[in-house]
Amino acid sequence: MIPADIDLTRVPAHIACVMDGNGRWATQRGLKRTEGHAAGEEALFDAVEGALELGVKWLTVYAFSTENWRRPLDEVRYLMGFNESILVRRREELREKGVRIRFAGRRDWRVPKRLIKQMDESMARTAHCTTMTLVIAFNYGGRAEIVDAVKRIIEEGIPAHKITDKTIAQHLYLPDMPDPDLMVRTSGEYRISNYLLWELAYSELVFADVLWPDFRREHLIDAVRQYQARRRRFGGLES
Ligand code: IPE
Ligand code: IPE
Ligand code: MG
Repeated sequence: MIPADIDLTRVPAHIACVMDGNGRWATQRGLKRTEGHAAGEEALFDAVEGALELGVKWLTVYAFSTENWRRPLDEVRYLMGFNESILVRRREELREKGVRIRFAGRRDWRVPKRLIKQMDESMARTAHCTTMTLVIAFNYGGRAEIVDAVKRIIEEGIPAHKITDKTIAQHLYLPDMPDPDLMVRTSGEYRISNYLLWELAYSELVFADVLWPDFRREHLIDAVRQYQARRRRFGGLES
């Protein structure tokens, strides 16, 4: 149930989440960091439920950054296997809810082949779903995305004088993805950490003071409440 003070006609079309704080959540409980990642699964699926209840059309979640390779090998390995397992175990449920699964990020040699296979399989099985799109930012970096876009623009031989904002946007990983209206980061860190650098240009930012494994749909709804109290101006004046 969505609280009555939420205006369902003014729900953000696209919410982007930085799922941060899994390691600290685990450490606080005397657990291994990887157990914090495991506990994050429930938070993710509750957030998906909340987004569906709100009628959000796009939900993007930061699952692994291009900088997360700097972590210890066992944690990186765990995250590769864990993401593969989530896709295999839960894509059917997402399909039944009308959720289309897509990915944003670099498919480089470091991403295990079997994970790539499950990513492709998950996209194919949910390609027809239209209720909401869940974008999983995996091996994603905002700078890498812009670099990759610039490379493709040059490869296509587009002359400099023809390049506009639109040219860049059309060469990002998901050209049909609208810019996020709202970005929510958990864990009390007030930074972007190389997330959606181009796309966040005019997004409203909300920082939730919970660690990701404790995040539930109520927190998402509260972020939307804060969003609805903001006045977006896009550099202009309020009408
Ligand atoms: C976010 O939680 C998940 C990933 C980066 C994969 P962290 O693992 O960053 O948890 P903290 O920030 O160290 O607590
Ligand atoms: C951002 O969190 C990446 C993900 C949530 C996947 P990090 O934990 O990697 O970011 P920093 O290191 O605190 O900036
Ligand atoms: Mg972190």
